[in-house]
Amino acid sequence: IQAMRVGLLGIGTVGGGTYNVLTRNAEEITRRAGRPIEITVVADKDVARAKELTGGKVKVTDDAFAVVTDPNVDIVIELIGGYGVAKELVLKAIENGKHVITANKALLAVHGTEIFAKAQEKGVMVAFEAAVAGGIPIIKAVREGLSANRIQWVAGIINGTTNFILSEMRDKGLPFADVLKEAQRLGYAEADPTFDVEGVDAAHKITLLSSLAFGIPVQFDKAHIEGISKLDATDIKYAEQLGYRIKLLGITRRRDNGIELRVHPTLVPSKRLIANVEGAMNAVLVQADAVGSTLYYGKGAGAEPTASAVIADVVDVTRLSTADPENRVPHLAFQPDALANLPI
Ligand code: HSE
Repeated sequence: IQAMRVGLLGIGTVGGGTYNVLTRNAEEITRRAGRPIEITVVADKDVARAKELTGGKVKVTDDAFAVVTDPNVDIVIELIGGYGVAKELVLKAIENGKHVITANKALLAVHGTEIFAKAQEKGVMVAFEAAVAGGIPIIKAVREGLSANRIQWVAGIINGTTNFILSEMRDKGLPFADVLKEAQRLGYAEADPTFDVEGVDAAHKITLLSSLAFGIPVQFDKAHIEGISKLDATDIKYAEQLGYRIKLLGITRRRDNGIELRVHPTLVPSKRLIANVEGAMNAVLVQADAVGSTLYYGKGAGAEPTASAVIADVVDVTRLSTADPENRVPHLAFQPDALANLPI
């Protein structure tokens, strides 16, 4: 049986974790995928580091465009990030008939509708479990696990960096800037940490969840976004005294006149489970008509938790792509035109 051939774009924190977990758990992953998964080529601008991380066992190049056009690559994993070259690479990979797996929430939240339409046209899949809530399989939960339900709302702590900052400020009284530095050191923060701190990263993620939950196109530009940079130790202390914790929540909710999409610091009663989600952990609550309320909890950032989600998509895409393409169920639960004009 032929191996699924993967081209990895970017071998930084998450790429390194993906390579390590794929190697370490190859047996389990092969069993679940039904075929061996083989990273055939890695592209990174730091070729020396990429060679070191892969122990010289994999072809390494600094030319990512050669990977997305390589006839010996079936799946491209994009872990470069950002909207620029990553977008070109993803579109080129799709044009060349590759399935794409990405952790790039910024790219999908802003250009997702174009990317998903292109993928549909070319009959390939774009999977993005790692883009939302790190290792928590929340995309699969909303798309498949809750597929019988009419979803009413989704609310969650979906940015590990800011949750870590709020927790450390409260517990240890540490200043904001010091905790942010520590989050960067631990590999939680975005390349541009203002995306974390100002709520932009959480907004990217809730935008994607909103599309999945309600079957609407991705509409990041409609999100209301407020981060945590204006909070200080006093706000956290007073909230505590009143019986609340401050959490940066992403919220999307079905209303009679449209879909709400917002990110802002929220006072959550201390007794609630979600108020007790600490550090870089994430938690997502989904309220749906048949199942009621469900809560998903886990590590929202970091090398191996995110790698866990990336590889789950590799397995998923491998299994789905072996089905007859004519009868393949669309991987995306979006209906690009549905509810497109609802005000938010
Ligand atoms: N910067 C993100 C976070 C990484 O802190 O949650 C995971 O998406």
